[in-house]
Amino acid sequence: QKRVLSGVQPTGNLHIGNYLGAIRNWVETQADYESFFCVVDLHAITVPHDPKTLAVNTRDIAALYIACGIDPQISTIFVQSHVSAHAELTWLLNCITPLNWLERMIQFKEKAIKQGENVGVGLLDYPVLMAADILLYQADLVPVGEDQKQHLELTRDIAGRFNDQFAAVLKVPEPLIRKEGARVMSLTDGTKKMSKSDPTEMSRIHLLDSADEITKKIKKCKTDAIRELAFDQSDRPEAHNLLGLYAIFANKTKAEVEAETATWRGWGDFKTVLTEAAIAHLEPIQTKYREVVQESGYLDQVLRDGREKASETAFKTLDAVKEAMGYLTKI
Ligand code: AMP
Ligand code: TRP
Repeated sequence: QKRVLSGVQPTGNLHIGNYLGAIRNWVETQADYESFFCVVDLHAITVPHDPKTLAVNTRDIAALYIACGIDPQISTIFVQSHVSAHAELTWLLNCITPLNWLERMIQFKEKAIKQGENVGVGLLDYPVLMAADILLYQADLVPVGEDQKQHLELTRDIAGRFNDQFAAVLKVPEPLIRKEGARVMSLTDGTKKMSKSDPTEMSRIHLLDSADEITKKIKKCKTDAIRELAFDQSDRPEAHNLLGLYAIFANKTKAEVEAETATWRGWGDFKTVLTEAAIAHLEPIQTKYREVVQESGYLDQVLRDGREKASETAFKTLDAVKEAMGYLTKI
């Protein structure tokens, strides 16, 4: 059976971009693949973090995976730092990865600017850790949003280089990037991607936002002066983004939404149906989330089982990597 691995960082609240770009696709593929879904807490410290919230956020993301429909009976849910093979393989891969491959990474350059002189080595090394996450599980497919494409390319390059230099130990993975939802844009600027790090909360809808918050954010979101709504007009990024969101939330095709635009008198009507569709789509996720966090001990057990299952696969690969590199392994 083919394998899938993906992960989200436990930094702050998940938003609908994380959900539509990544987690929703995991839910859809979990029945067909052996799946590993990781909360990537080692990645979360590549920018300054608050030790008081890391553990809470980590549990929260795991609970949200389940709330979104990841079934722990089918898929393995685990925490990256619980499987030490991730850190260990990162070191081994570091030593075969050319520095200039990492300096080219767009996400590094963007984040590094914000950190100024304090940019840490970990931020540069972030994609190698991500490669280790994926390669340890010999994943065939990695479902992510569009923004991770370059990191996936790098993972493939690192795997190829390792296999050439030592032995064909590592599976070269493919990205799985769905067209719909691959790049959800900010509510306050349709040319920017929706992001956890945007200082204004109005720019994104969190998975756990109340109906009132969702209503307010959509009411205030950026629009334009043209009444008729349409997809694919390059000078109208907000219209395109919001219509796309509506299609996903209302479970309609693009053609169906296009036909429906004729029934709206303008942005006001559209915002009403969009708000209703978003609330209706997110409500079952929120209900399930509350159930998961209230069921005492359940989540811990899921994560303990996950650690065990993930470790079996991960350490097997790590051993094979060490052997290929010539390490003294048997004493
Ligand atoms: P992160 O929270 O940065 O670890 O991202 C987790 C996942 O969400 C990754 O697969 C990203 O590609 C995806 N993602 C983040 N922001 C967006 C967005 N605005 N639109 C679509 N996918 C996104
Ligand atoms: N870098 C990814 C992001 O920001 C998160 C991530 C870490 C990841 N390790 C991964 C995604 C392995 C897929 C597979 O979205």
